[in-house]
Amino acid sequence: MSKRFYISTAIDYVNGHPHLGHAYEKVVADVIARSRRSMGRETFFLTGLDEHGQKVQQAALAEGKTPQAYCDELAAVWKGFAAKLELTNDDFVRTTEPRHKQVVQAILSKLYAEGQFYKEVYRGFYSTREETFLTDKDRRPDGTFDPAYGEVVELDEQNYYFRLKDHQQWLIDYITQNPDFVAPAYRRNEVLGFLKNNVLEDLCISRPAARLNWGIPLPFDPGFVTYVWFDALSNYITIPASLGDPGVPADLANQPPPLAAPPSAWPADIHLVGKDILKFHAVYWPIMLKAMGAPLPKQVLVHGWWQKDGHRMSKSTGNVVDPVAVIDEWGVDAFRFYVLRELDIGPDGNWTEAGFKSRYSAELANGLGNLVNRSLSMLKRYRNGVVPGVSGELAPEAEKVIAETRGLLEQNHLQGALQSIWSLVARANQYVDQTAPFKLAKDPANAGRLDEVLYNLAEVCRILAVLLCPFLPGTAGRIYAQLGLAGAPDKFEGARWGGLAAGHAIGTPAPLFPRKDP
Ligand code: MSP
Repeated sequence: MSKRFYISTAIDYVNGHPHLGHAYEKVVADVIARSRRSMGRETFFLTGLDEHGQKVQQAALAEGKTPQAYCDELAAVWKGFAAKLELTNDDFVRTTEPRHKQVVQAILSKLYAEGQFYKEVYRGFYSTREETFLTDKDRRPDGTFDPAYGEVVELDEQNYYFRLKDHQQWLIDYITQNPDFVAPAYRRNEVLGFLKNNVLEDLCISRPAARLNWGIPLPFDPGFVTYVWFDALSNYITIPASLGDPGVPADLANQPPPLAAPPSAWPADIHLVGKDILKFHAVYWPIMLKAMGAPLPKQVLVHGWWQKDGHRMSKSTGNVVDPVAVIDEWGVDAFRFYVLRELDIGPDGNWTEAGFKSRYSAELANGLGNLVNRSLSMLKRYRNGVVPGVSGELAPEAEKVIAETRGLLEQNHLQGALQSIWSLVARANQYVDQTAPFKLAKDPANAGRLDEVLYNLAEVCRILAVLLCPFLPGTAGRIYAQLGLAGAPDKFEGARWGGLAAGHAIGTPAPLFPRKDP
C-alpha cells in the first residue's frame, strides 16, 4: 500500500497567545502539505495543542476554572487561528483527548514492561516554570539561576527515569548514516556535536501527582503523571495510532483498524519545528521511538525564529506582530506571502512593517495583481472576454519556471519557489510593456498579433494560479474564477502550457490586491 505524506507541526502551548512564530510554522507546513497534494500525494497534515503541565494547571487555577474548561476555551481560540491562516490540516490533536492519552499510556506500559524505565530518588533543584530539573552546571557565574527559570526549589522525590544513555551511540550512528534526518545541515551538526561531547542524562519521565496532577497518569503507578514533553512528543504517533494506522506497531495502534483505512501515514515524513526545540525532536523523540519499536520519521525540519524590528518579540515590551490584525487589514494571502517570501526555512527572520508594505505593494499589488488585472481587462476590452487561438510565445519561459518550481517544492524550498514564480510574473509584465497591446489594439491590421499577446498573457495567469495555489490559495482561486474556470487550481499537472482553450469565455476581472496608499 502506498504511504501518505505525513507532515506535523510542533503543538503549541495552549496557554500561550497565538503569535507570528506560531503562524509562520503552521503556514510553512500548510504550503508543504498543499504542494504535496497538488502533486498527487495523499497527505496527512497534523497540528494541534500541548495542553498538560504545571503552567496550564496554575493558569486555570488563577482564573478559577478547571484545567479542562480552561483548555477547552483556549482550544477554540487556537482552532479559530488555524482557520484564519487557512490551514488544511487533516486533524487537530489536543493532548487532553482520550484518543491521545490512551496511546501514551500504551507506550508507557510497553516501555515499562521492557525495562526501559527505572525508579530513583532525585535530590536537587527544580524549576517549576520550566518544569525541568537543574544542576549546578545550570548556575550562572554568580551562583544564581537564570531568572527565566522562575522560582527554583529544592526537591527530594522519587521519579521514573527513561534509559536514554543506553541509546546514545545508536543515535549518533543513526544521524551520521541518515544525513537528511535533521535539516538544515547546520542543525544536524549541532545535534551531532551535542551528542558527541556530552553524556546523555537519563530522562525523568514522571512528576509526582501530589505536586502536579494535570497530566496523563502513569499506567503502572497512579502516584505519578507523565512528564509533559514525553506526553507532547508522542502526539505525532498517537493520532495515527488512534486512527488504526498500519505503519504504527500493532501493540500501540487501535485494533482492528477501520475497514476502509487510508494508506499508512506513519512514519512521518517531516516534523517541522522551531530551533529551540531541536533537542527534544532530534534526541529524545528518536530514542523514544526506537525503544517502542516504531520506525523513525524521515526528517526533523528546523526553522528559525522571527524577530520584530531586530528585537526578540515579547508581550511584556509590546514588541509583537499580531498575525490576526495583519490578516484583518491586508488579507491572509498577503500575510502568507510575506512570511514565506521573506524567510527561508532555517535562518532567523526579521519582521518590519516597512518590509511588509514594500513587498505588498511591489510584488503583490504592482507585480502579480497588476499583471492579472491588465491581462484580463485587455482580453475583456479587446476580445469581449473570449480567449483567442493558442499561442506559445511565452511557453518556454513558463515551462522552465514550472519545472523549477516543482523541483523546489519537492525539496521544500518554498522561498526559492516563490522567487522562481515571480520571475514569470516579472517576465509577463515586461512582455506587456514590450508588446504594448493597447497600441496594437488601435490598428485592425495587428489583430493577429494582439490575439497572440492576449493568449500568452491569459495563459500565464492561469499557470500562475496553479503554481501559487499552495502559497496563496485564495488568490489562486480568484485568478481562476476571473479566468472563468471552474474548480480550484490545486493540481500541479494543470501547470502545462496550452490549458486555456480558444473560445473560452473568461469571468470578470477585479483587483486582487487593492493598493493601500497612505
Ligand atoms: N509545546 C511545545 C512544542 C511541543 S512539540 C511536541 C512548544 N510550544 S510553543 O508554543 O512554545 O512553540 C510552538 C512552536 O512555535 C515551536 O516550534 C517554536 O519554535 C515556534 N515559535 C515560537 N516562537 C517563535 C518565533 N518567534 N519565531 C518562529 N517560531 C517560533 O514549544
